[in-house]
Amino acid sequence: MKCAIPIIFCILLIGPACTLHAQRSAARPGDVPSAPHPKNWKDTDGRFINAHGAGILYHEGVYYLFGEIKKGITWQVPGQSWEDYRVPAGGVSCYSSRDLQQWKYEGVALSSITRPSPEGSPASPGTGDASHDLDTGRVIERPKVIYNDKTGKFIMWMHVDAKDYSYSQSGVAVSDRPEGPYKYLHSVKPNGNMSRDMTLFRDEDNKAYLIYSSENNNTMQVCLLSDDYLSPTTTYSRILVNRRREGPAIFKFEGKYWLISSDCTGWSPNAATYAVADHPLGPWKEYGNPCTGPGADTTYGAQSTFVLPLAGKKNSFIFMADRWNKLDLERSTYLWLPLTIEDGKPRITGAERTNF
Ligand code: GAL
Repeated sequence: MKCAIPIIFCILLIGPACTLHAQRSAARPGDVPSAPHPKNWKDTDGRFINAHGAGILYHEGVYYLFGEIKKGITWQVPGQSWEDYRVPAGGVSCYSSRDLQQWKYEGVALSSITRPSPEGSPASPGTGDASHDLDTGRVIERPKVIYNDKTGKFIMWMHVDAKDYSYSQSGVAVSDRPEGPYKYLHSVKPNGNMSRDMTLFRDEDNKAYLIYSSENNNTMQVCLLSDDYLSPTTTYSRILVNRRREGPAIFKFEGKYWLISSDCTGWSPNAATYAVADHPLGPWKEYGNPCTGPGADTTYGAQSTFVLPLAGKKNSFIFMADRWNKLDLERSTYLWLPLTIEDGKPRITGAERTNF
């Protein structure tokens, strides 16, 4: 694995059968060179990377990418008033990289409990415990991992749900090693509240927060985690009240907290907004769309999942998003774009160079 850090400032990943356009940059934030570097986004074994709704843990010089494994036939849950397209929940994958270009597959970090075919899917009914949080017929989404300095453990939180999204809980798992395997502990409704799209944030003072769409997706909540990061505390706040935001992606820059989120339109893309606060618990003030130019009103066809601070660089982030393919979820792809803060506003740039 190469140790030099030629940073990918802009990559557009267009799914298993298609092409990845990766663009490399000299180290100027926001400066995306025009010549695309076409190749498929594959791991170092030549296999397509399967890590949706992803997040990244940076630990001891290595970036660990965690994401949803989406594999199998997409089917629609009958009787829903919205487009509830599902694919078997394949658990959580892990890839590692030192340069954000070469990704080594580390295996399944958290296994789902495989049944031959989820109940209600086009294939014949499966067998097994369909009520287990990690059952393949259910929902395992948006896994995020942080490290706890005190306990020396790696902690994964994720959204777990029933196939109709009525369960609305956050699951937690733990491992001694960044790449796993993770041991699933349980799931919770923090302080009795619904918890769907989520992310994690560990602050510089080592306090960690779970940020999740709650109250039937109407309002987000931010909940302080216990010192071991394994449970919610009773300290939480309601943010972006009645704004129906999803896909939270949070980062810190110059003492302020920045939260990018999507609108609530299922697998269909929509416009992002950003919010700013002086503390993770708020108050948060919501502003406009950090994307500009053609495609900005749909986040360039994608939905936020994570913002990665580039190690050793100031004001240099990667905005990570998913381009969902609702009719064939396994073929959903990825959009990574450079993000910087300029004149007090986040700017996501480079989409025009991705053949959007
Ligand atoms: C999206 C959400 C995804 C997934 C999807 C299901 O709004 O961000 O993570 O839950 O809905 O339709």
